[in-house]
Amino acid sequence: MITGAGGGLGRAMIKAACGAGHRVIGLVRSMESAEALERSIPENAICCVCVQDLAHPEQLAVHADLLGMSDIDVLVNNAGKIKPGPLESQNLADAKDVFAVNYFSPLALIQAVLPGMRRRRSGTILNISSLSAHAGLVADGIYAASKAALERSTESLHSEVGPLGIRVSNIVLGKINTAFGQSSTPPEKDVYTALMTKLAAERSPGGEDPADIAEEIMASIGQPNLPLTLPIGTQARQVLQQLRKLSPVQRMEWLEKISAAGWWRAHHSRS
Ligand SMILES: NC(=O)c1ccc[n+]([C@@H]2O[C@H](COP(=O)([O-])OP(=O)(O)OC[C@H]3O[C@@H](n4cnc5c(N)ncnc54)[C@H](OP(=O)(O)O)[C@@H]3O)[C@@H](O)[C@H]2O)c1
Repeated sequence: MITGAGGGLGRAMIKAACGAGHRVIGLVRSMESAEALERSIPENAICCVCVQDLAHPEQLAVHADLLGMSDIDVLVNNAGKIKPGPLESQNLADAKDVFAVNYFSPLALIQAVLPGMRRRRSGTILNISSLSAHAGLVADGIYAASKAALERSTESLHSEVGPLGIRVSNIVLGKINTAFGQSSTPPEKDVYTALMTKLAAERSPGGEDPADIAEEIMASIGQPNLPLTLPIGTQARQVLQQLRKLSPVQRMEWLEKISAAGWWRAHHSRS
């Protein structure tokens, strides 16, 4: 089962999983995404597409039987939401929405697949995370917190269900060439407008090919020793390696250098 299957990495993983001959369930948010996904699935593939809005995690327990959750061998929590902005001006309802999709829905899906996996003493749960979980970049606090929450919970889960034969991993990704985070509402006039305007001007498409990332993620499922934290793609591997080497002070200096944080500090020392 792969969530967020309507586009981007999710759709690429569906294609890779179908290509490898797996029986796949793709969860999408809307009928439009379902139709688009169905059109892209090869004819001989065994793929079922289900519509499920993950902004309402409490519905997942109710729909678990319909979705056949007790028979899932591999769950990939891929759906994700981002709402960039400085913490001071974040709307709480938006922040809860980000956590619903990035944290509470994965949790509800994990709870729904675990009884079956425990009975079979086998199963794999991959939680798609981000470098954001490892570094609180400027204007990324809510998304970073949601992915960090997912990663820490996965660590607990690893200890809880590993002895029961269930493998759990955080898949850490860098920038991938999808539409993720490309559309955002223009900043409201407040103290952070200059910062948000700069970030919007610097936002550029690009990143690693979702098809390559998808193939690597699918290959990880067959890996005998699946690590708890698995960076996939060149950027994620390099950045995680770099972060592990830095002291807390060096880490903050590095974060200022690679993000708009340094510019923001300089902007204020000028004004
Ligand atoms: N792209 C990157 O640079 C990057 C970097 C690091 C980590 N990631 C992570 O990779 C994962 C996949 O992202 P992507 O790059 O493939 O971007 P994407 O194309 O925007 O995919 C996100 C998916 O999540 C789905 N989704 C969002 N809100 C939902 C909701 N309420 N209910 C159900 N589905 C919902 C989207 O459905 P709709 O199509 O209907 O909106 C979409 O299919 C995410 O978890 C993201 O955090 C991405």
